[in-house]
Amino acid sequence: MRALLFAANWKMHIGPQEARTYLSTFLGQYSERPDRQVWFFPPAVSLEAVATIVAKRPDLLAGAQDIYWEPKGAYTGAISGPLAAQAGARATLIGHSERRHVFGETYEQTGKKLAAAVRAGLHPVLCVGETLAQRDAGETLTVVTRQLEAAFGARVEVQATVAYEPVWAIGTGRNATPQDAALVHQAIRGWLNDRQAGETRILYGGSVNVKNASQLLAERELDGVLVGGASLDPKIWAELVRTAAT
Ligand code: PGA
Repeated sequence: MRALLFAANWKMHIGPQEARTYLSTFLGQYSERPDRQVWFFPPAVSLEAVATIVAKRPDLLAGAQDIYWEPKGAYTGAISGPLAAQAGARATLIGHSERRHVFGETYEQTGKKLAAAVRAGLHPVLCVGETLAQRDAGETLTVVTRQLEAAFGARVEVQATVAYEPVWAIGTGRNATPQDAALVHQAIRGWLNDRQAGETRILYGGSVNVKNASQLLAERELDGVLVGGASLDPKIWAELVRTAAT
């Protein structure tokens, strides 16, 4: 059976109280199915609230949106892998395009964060993707490969998930076509296979919504989706997860 992963990236939305209300609606509208898992990436302040609730359902999981690479210390505003794990996180996004482009995170830093996630026992979800200028210059595969190399380094044996999120498709309403995504997914899979990496799921992200999720997931190269905007309303998110075809 093809098992799909639906990951919700709440970004800077949904505080702890709102998260409890959200999950009570979501749980009422979405019953466990054997062919899909749903992972939530709330803001750090809501992590414990989400993790406590989803711990009751084996198909659901909570993760951090970002971690710092040091385990502890004088790093005001940052949270470490062990701190996120203590709040109940079992996974973490690494190198999301907003971390790279808004906060200036470098390729080298994604590598340090991926290693830190593994040390803390968090499943890394590495986000990669090209800008529009890079795509127009025909550099998509070079950029994505460089991002993989920088983040994984020699650690390709780690259990991880990769999310291909073209920067031009994030929050713009303009999603990649299933064929666009499939070409890049194949290249990522090829890169991982060449290095004998373990079984790695590859998600697509960027303007996924209730209307286009089934069409995107009909492409067998996609093992799931990473969704921002369309995951913020629990009813819409439940409908997306429930109705997307396998
Ligand atoms: P979007 O965001 O679904 O709002 O485009 C996706 C993401 O940034 O992970």
